[in-house]
Amino acid sequence: MDDKSLTIEFARVTEHAAISVARFIGRGDEEAADRAAVESMRGSLEYIDIDGTIVIGEGERDEAPMLYIGEKVGSGKGQKVDIAVDPLEGTTLAATSAPNAIAVMAIGDHGNFLHAPDTYMEKIAVGPKARGVIDIKLSSTENLQRIAEALNRYIEDLTVIILKRERHKPLIEEVRKAGARIRLIQDGDVAGAIATAKEDSGIDVLMGIGGAPEGVLGAAALRCVGGDMQGRLVFRNEEERGRALKMGIKDFDKIYGIHDLAAGDVIFVATGVTNGDYLNGVKFFQSGAKTHSVVMRSKTGTIRYIEATHYFNYKEIK
Ligand code: FBP
Repeated sequence: MDDKSLTIEFARVTEHAAISVARFIGRGDEEAADRAAVESMRGSLEYIDIDGTIVIGEGERDEAPMLYIGEKVGSGKGQKVDIAVDPLEGTTLAATSAPNAIAVMAIGDHGNFLHAPDTYMEKIAVGPKARGVIDIKLSSTENLQRIAEALNRYIEDLTVIILKRERHKPLIEEVRKAGARIRLIQDGDVAGAIATAKEDSGIDVLMGIGGAPEGVLGAAALRCVGGDMQGRLVFRNEEERGRALKMGIKDFDKIYGIHDLAAGDVIFVATGVTNGDYLNGVKFFQSGAKTHSVVMRSKTGTIRYIEATHYFNYKEIK
């Protein structure tokens, strides 16, 4: 993928989506917040010279009017790319003004992202220093021992980020028994996965079950920074297995390594909606707004933070 020139174009897409949704922060209307982000992202993508296909999006064609899986986006003129989007990752976070809501997308060469079904995925994700030591087949205690050794730290000095869910009760108990600390989050395990790669976030590992599409986005980010991730699909019923079959998944027990989730050259772009561990949220001022984004490329490992000031007098952002 000849991606250099595209990175700023993509940042513009998540910046605008974040501004659109920021107007709904704390207003308690999840649907409106999500719609604002989706409409903005769909609109902005049209102006980019790519022949893009949504592979992770808002759902299947009959479920989503925009950014559905298989939808063609971009002007159709440029290179052929696959796109994974979550226009608003952390809908409830935005609607309740809680931390870590982001607008996010990843771009890769055609065929390089796992076509993840809309099911759950068990995940373990770490930053670059613990790359190669995680193994989802092992217990969380064993994984924590390996991570502690790789980071040259005591288990007691590790922090595990886990979604606060009833299903994680046994995991939480085991991690606590192993001696590690836990940061429970209400939502947003893409932000959680990325936080493991930022040394000053204080987060060392993400564990637990979250959305499978979010697994692909987290993996794309970690690919760019040299982190590591593994995932395994989790099905609650036959309907979900059917969804997976429809997406071409044959081995339901497969363990996906980071390269199975996001292969080849990838670009990862995210803009903060609310303040978080990795990005600051949108701030409005008279006639404008400030956004904070990160743009990363796996080809070069470059991580760019972009603080942008947008003046609505010059360019209206709806
Ligand atoms: P949404 O933005 O779609 O609300 O997803 C938020 C999220 O917390 C994800 O980060 C996570 O992967 C998933 O939901 C977990 O799903 P559930 O809320 O069903 O446990």
